[in-house]
Amino acid sequence: MTSPSRSKAWQKLASHYLNLHQNGTTIASLFKADKSRFDQLQCQLDGLLFDYSKNLVTGDTLARLRDLADEAGLRDAIAAMYRGDKINTTEERPALHVALRTPLKDADPAFNAAVNKTLAQMEAFADKVHSGAWTGYTGQAIDTIINIGIGGSDLGPAMVTAALQHWQLPGIRTFFVSNVDPAHMRMTLSNASPETTLFIIASKSFSTLETHQNAALARRWYLDNGGDEKQVSKHFVAVSANVPRAREFGIAEENIFPLWDWVGGRYSLWSAIGLPIALSVGMKQFRALLAGARIADEHFRDAPFEKNIPVIMGLLSVWYGGFVGATSQVVLPYSQELHLFPAFLQQLDMESLGKSVEVDGNRLLVPSGLVIWGSAGTNGQHSFHQLLHQGTHYIPADFIGIVNSHFEADTDQHHHLLANCFSQSQALMWGKSQRQAFNELLAQGMAEAPAYALSKHKVIPGNKPSNTFLLDSLNPQTLGTLIALYEHKVFVESVIWHINAFDQWGVELGKQLGEKLYGALKADTACDSFDASTNGLINHCRGHE
Ligand code: F6P
Repeated sequence: MTSPSRSKAWQKLASHYLNLHQNGTTIASLFKADKSRFDQLQCQLDGLLFDYSKNLVTGDTLARLRDLADEAGLRDAIAAMYRGDKINTTEERPALHVALRTPLKDADPAFNAAVNKTLAQMEAFADKVHSGAWTGYTGQAIDTIINIGIGGSDLGPAMVTAALQHWQLPGIRTFFVSNVDPAHMRMTLSNASPETTLFIIASKSFSTLETHQNAALARRWYLDNGGDEKQVSKHFVAVSANVPRAREFGIAEENIFPLWDWVGGRYSLWSAIGLPIALSVGMKQFRALLAGARIADEHFRDAPFEKNIPVIMGLLSVWYGGFVGATSQVVLPYSQELHLFPAFLQQLDMESLGKSVEVDGNRLLVPSGLVIWGSAGTNGQHSFHQLLHQGTHYIPADFIGIVNSHFEADTDQHHHLLANCFSQSQALMWGKSQRQAFNELLAQGMAEAPAYALSKHKVIPGNKPSNTFLLDSLNPQTLGTLIALYEHKVFVESVIWHINAFDQWGVELGKQLGEKLYGALKADTACDSFDASTNGLINHCRGHE
């Protein structure tokens, strides 16, 4: 791996961008110059199309970006990940989420054995819950699943469960509680009965404050509402890499689903952390999700870089962040079922790439990690798209469209959704010149002087880049493929930036300080041991409780 600041390809890309800029190259001009641009700059992969033609890149740009990948040692890095090398260097662990969805030939067979055993355990458990053989303390079948977890133990399974609601099994409702705000758990519990509710305590470390607090609250609620203390094990199961801590909490050994330190939290939805998915849609669909991810894994490992979707995605993000000046990237699924996808990607991308030290401990001298944000279309069009079109920030966009809706009776309405998805990327690219705006106003009957004045405000600069994913339909397989493509895209960026995508030391400080401040909030004496602002906030709360 080479540091980007010492990379020759990086320097060449910097001067290449200057040339493009000085020549006034625009995305629209590239389309005008090459009628086959769409055919050249798209890839297809089992039910998924990736169109990256609306980017500010020429063939030369892409070739230089691939040189950067070569110089950074991307090929070797991919091989090292699949081999199970300890690529998470600061924690001395492999990052083997790919082993969760495929038997890995090159990796230690122990990984495959552990994965298969856990899948069988999940299947047996899901079968019991679905058949009604698993009952609560009064002998009734389970109808409510409440997953208690946060970060990777929440966002992935919550996003997938929402995305696959078309496959939701009858008789089961699934909720996700993450926030330590008791309102989250209390509001969720107001829909539940202790006799028929199953809690999954999902925590890789089993030491996360929010999850502990919520699990304790759930247990209190269960007992306070008639739950039988001796039958707690019928209502609480756990997923964790820390079996002793889960046992200490009172979870029966046979109800603890294992997780391993070689699976990062934000890459864990494919493991037993996916148990709420399996309970919601069935193990068959969960396996189809894994199969979809496997398609992306094989593609990432084997496809040449010219046609390798995660490699292209990652290189484009590096291009915009490193050379063109973007600091954020917006993700716009035109699918209500995918409304949680941006939130999931925020953790995947920003917890992985929000680093400023290279793997060898040197300070990173180029910008890394774009801010990821977004929401489901078309809603965003009526809130933040204004800033995308006319604001001063340069924000590349990822659009995700679904060709066939699950609601066949509403195909016409679905076409409005797709038309809006395409029109937004078109508007971002083409924009509107002042002349166009002026002529439109004249055509509407406005006099020249006011039309000229108003036309200045109607200019849309355009030349804003976007990718578009089109899924033939949103199903477990295509969803699995889409998620895994993004996982690998993040890895590509980390290799170029020479950073470790699999640790997250930055979250520790806030947790440590939080414990101290909790003590201060509970103390009897006035708080004066922190900075004036923190002391003031704590004393204000205590004075108003
Ligand atoms: O605080 C960040 C984090 O460590 C994430 O990386 C992780 O997904 C989340 O907390 C939850 O951790 P756990 O599964 O160990 O409770």
